[in-house]
Amino acid sequence: MAFPLGRPARLAVVASGRGTNLAALIAAFPPGGDEAEVALVVSEKASAPALERARGAGVEAAHLPWDTREAFEERLHGLLAARGVDLVCLAGFMRVLSPAFVDRWHGRLLNVHPSLLPKHRGLHAQRQALEEGVRESGCSVHFVDAGVDTGKVIVQRRVPVLPGDDEEALAARIRTEEHVAYPEAVRLVLRGEVTP
Ligand code: GAR
Repeated sequence: MAFPLGRPARLAVVASGRGTNLAALIAAFPPGGDEAEVALVVSEKASAPALERARGAGVEAAHLPWDTREAFEERLHGLLAARGVDLVCLAGFMRVLSPAFVDRWHGRLLNVHPSLLPKHRGLHAQRQALEEGVRESGCSVHFVDAGVDTGKVIVQRRVPVLPGDDEEALAARIRTEEHVAYPEAVRLVLRGEVTP
């Protein structure tokens, strides 16, 4: 399958937490949207606010428990296939998917990370930026490959690191840019303008 599809794309969002990126994606690609619609939201956490947001927007929300990575991935793949999902957006999903799963979804699996990749990969990206003393940070939306935050970058947006910033202040400034960058990256991929 290659983009563009010639019909509205069906998106799935996988999220572990509060889901502000999910909200931005639903706002950009609402149910019944012309270009794409968020058709499914999945979380490994039953209590994730992301699931509540999805339900509130009239989007199917599924809790898939993380018993083992293999079991989670089998269930996730089955659900994505059953719902005819074209593109999967990881949005604050705090687990690492296996190379086998990533390979199955090659070119159709995106992630947002709170740094200017390749800088500050992995956990606590904002803390890494503050500890390094950089004057600028930002966010990256990228294709997921078998590494951690190593796939091809699609969109980056920059923010200043300001005197007195703590992790939460920097994270909030970066998140605001993520909400612009993620829909932009999804559009580029759906239009076939960026490929892995
Ligand atoms: C976002 O800042 C995202 O970049 C980050 O989690 C936050 C989720 O926010 N992801 C990672 O750190 C992945 N390693 P949200 O739940 O409000 O969208």
